[in-house]
Amino acid sequence: MSVSIILGTRPQIIKSAPVYAALRRRGVECEIVNTGQHYDYVMNRQFFSELELPDPAADLNVGAGTPSQQVSAIIAGLGVLFDRASPKIAIVPGDTNSALAAGIACVKSGVPVAHLESGCRSGDFRMAEEVNRRLLDHMSHVLLCPTSRCVANVRREHVLADSVANVGDTMYDSLLKLRPRIMASDPASKLGLSHEDYVFMTLHRAETVDDPVALRRVMGAVGSLPLPVAFSVHPRTKARFEEFGIPPHPNVKLLEPLPYIEALGMVSGSRLVITDSGGLQKEAFWLGRPSLIARETTEWGEIVRAGGAILVGTDPKRIKRGYATSQKVDKARFRSATRIFGAGNASEKVVDAIEDYLRKSVRD
Ligand code: UD1
Repeated sequence: MSVSIILGTRPQIIKSAPVYAALRRRGVECEIVNTGQHYDYVMNRQFFSELELPDPAADLNVGAGTPSQQVSAIIAGLGVLFDRASPKIAIVPGDTNSALAAGIACVKSGVPVAHLESGCRSGDFRMAEEVNRRLLDHMSHVLLCPTSRCVANVRREHVLADSVANVGDTMYDSLLKLRPRIMASDPASKLGLSHEDYVFMTLHRAETVDDPVALRRVMGAVGSLPLPVAFSVHPRTKARFEEFGIPPHPNVKLLEPLPYIEALGMVSGSRLVITDSGGLQKEAFWLGRPSLIARETTEWGEIVRAGGAILVGTDPKRIKRGYATSQKVDKARFRSATRIFGAGNASEKVVDAIEDYLRKSVRD
């Protein structure tokens, strides 16, 4: 076996699927290892089938647990796999606990790591993801950056990788591939919502949803917006609603976690997206929808600067002001800025970088 892609959560599946397809097109032997950090069907295996990934060659099934339990189980599980057969290189996407654990396991077994979506930074160390991505960059051999600013970030930190490449964003490749199906889907009408006449929302970050004051404030603010809000509720958020006794608001329609095409169909039909997700900020931007980011920082400052997103945190006044501002944005301006994330051929460039690395490591 020559290349392993190690993933375990929804966003990692979206980032990896076009890379797997590009590797196979070039005849590179490749297999998927699923950590199972996300274990509900709709959070994990449904994404495999929508994004046309084959069944994983190995499934570690780590399931629910504290972050330390998950990270240690993944390290131990990958160690056993690598003892049996080591890949020539492992591609590790994103910044999740699965990504950090995969990086550590690879380093301990002498497997070189290619970090996909390297170099993005929010500067907020309260985010588990910020710590994960920084550590992972510093243990990786190949840094696959989605934008030129990400390249500048790793250069500034003097990361000692063998190669650094601005490849573009593979989530954009996934979106372009499935765009016809996304545009043809109309999940909003099944919910009785009219085109461009609702807000689509997701919230799942620990910093937002584990804080009862912040979660209540956001729900109060979005409940009083002039448009109905369709809220796709992550399992973590659902548990917090129950724990904190936050009642549903009549203006907010609560939805189960959505599959990929439906979620992006909801984005594309919306007037505005409100989210604390890194990936959805980008997807809204690519689909020409403005977003309000319910955080104080973002790893995608490129989108804020292009006018595609506004940082509003969890303050009701800023959410209402952000809503008003977002209704006046020049969508044509940010639509033309999507090239910041490449031309939709990031996966081909990823494979170029991987093949280059493998060629050089054979010569050395
Ligand atoms: C993880 C990533 C985050 C990413 C998000 C995408 C980390 C640190 N965070 O956050 O960067 O944006 O995935 O969704 O890795 N749960 C279920 N069913 C599932 C998955 C999770 O019920 O299929 C529950 C878990 O038991 C846990 C909670 O949801 O109580 C949070 O799950 P976890 O995997 O820890 O992190 P996410 O919040 O999903």
